[in-house]
Amino acid sequence: MPRCSTLRSDRLRRRLFDPETRICFTLRGAMAIASIKEVAQLASVSVGTVSNVLNRPEAVSPATRERVLSAMSELGFVRNESARALRSGRTRTMGLVVLDVTNPFFTDVAKGVEGAADASGMIVTLCNSDQDGPRERRYLDHLEEQRVQGILITPVEARNPHLEQIIDRGTPVVLLDCRTTKRNRCSVAVDDVLGGRLAAEHLLEQGHRRIAFAGGPMTISQVTDRRRGAAAAVTEAGVGASLTLIETPSLSFASGRHAGEQLLETDPSRRPTAVFCANDLLALGLLQELSARGLRVPDDIALVGYDDIDYAAAAAVPLSSVRQPREELGKVAAQLLLEEIDERDSHRHRHVVFEPEFVVRESSVRA
Ligand code: RIB
Repeated sequence: MPRCSTLRSDRLRRRLFDPETRICFTLRGAMAIASIKEVAQLASVSVGTVSNVLNRPEAVSPATRERVLSAMSELGFVRNESARALRSGRTRTMGLVVLDVTNPFFTDVAKGVEGAADASGMIVTLCNSDQDGPRERRYLDHLEEQRVQGILITPVEARNPHLEQIIDRGTPVVLLDCRTTKRNRCSVAVDDVLGGRLAAEHLLEQGHRRIAFAGGPMTISQVTDRRRGAAAAVTEAGVGASLTLIETPSLSFASGRHAGEQLLETDPSRRPTAVFCANDLLALGLLQELSARGLRVPDDIALVGYDDIDYAAAAAVPLSSVRQPREELGKVAAQLLLEEIDERDSHRHRHVVFEPEFVVRESSVRA
């Protein structure tokens, strides 16, 4: 029988010898994951040294570190994050709860979050509330039960008692893409009132007097802020312009198509000649519906979106849009959360507000 090389203790490496094939099988795949103690034994170091290799590698000499890592590889060791979290009280994870994971705005935001988290050795757990309050609460409960280090969230509703309780129980929270003045959390957002104003001023400059605002639900403060900015610009212009509301059940492409159907039910003589949409997905859905019904953008109806996602410029009629610094929003929000995690009680909460930028394209400027 070939001698299966055994280590000092057969317990560290179990092998089966198959008499037919005369092949040794290592039970690594099936054997229980090796413990830190077994790694220490194999590498002839203390358990504390193995723990240092895992958590403070700079405190271990390169030669010893190499010997421990080799033993881990030999035994197929995998650190037990749950056990580590039990000891420390927190996992190396932050939660990110977004409104709509299908919206490229949040994909770009998540990229910024993940880059900052990864640079700090942390993992991001992504949760999609899908603009649904009960689902958002379930995710928040799960993240708190998992003892994540903190939570980044674009809440379904600005007024959010469940989130308040989680903050009061000690989990750091940073609001993303949502303004607040509350002093027990940080926030990162864009000045959506200014963004709405920029969109409406552009359409007024193009000569539009009957303008619609498409967006909803009105429980989302970003939507109401954008509408408020547009309404202020229309009023202040003093040219007898109007801003009518096409309220949508969500900020999705499908809601944009439905808004197009509603718009076309209006008598052409009273129909808005321009629509400012609360985000680009709505505008792209509206663009598709208008085009499918034979209307020309911008000649028959001008369109403006919000976010300036990559698909805005790539649309069949390139979309004018209010640009949000999406990745930067995510990166800064994650950095504020990491600061709070490190500083704990000495952390000074801040509310970072970026200025939006208006990007003019064909969907709102007649040739
Ligand atoms: O956060 C609410 C909305 O604001 C998102 O849908 C995103 O498009 C941003 O513009």
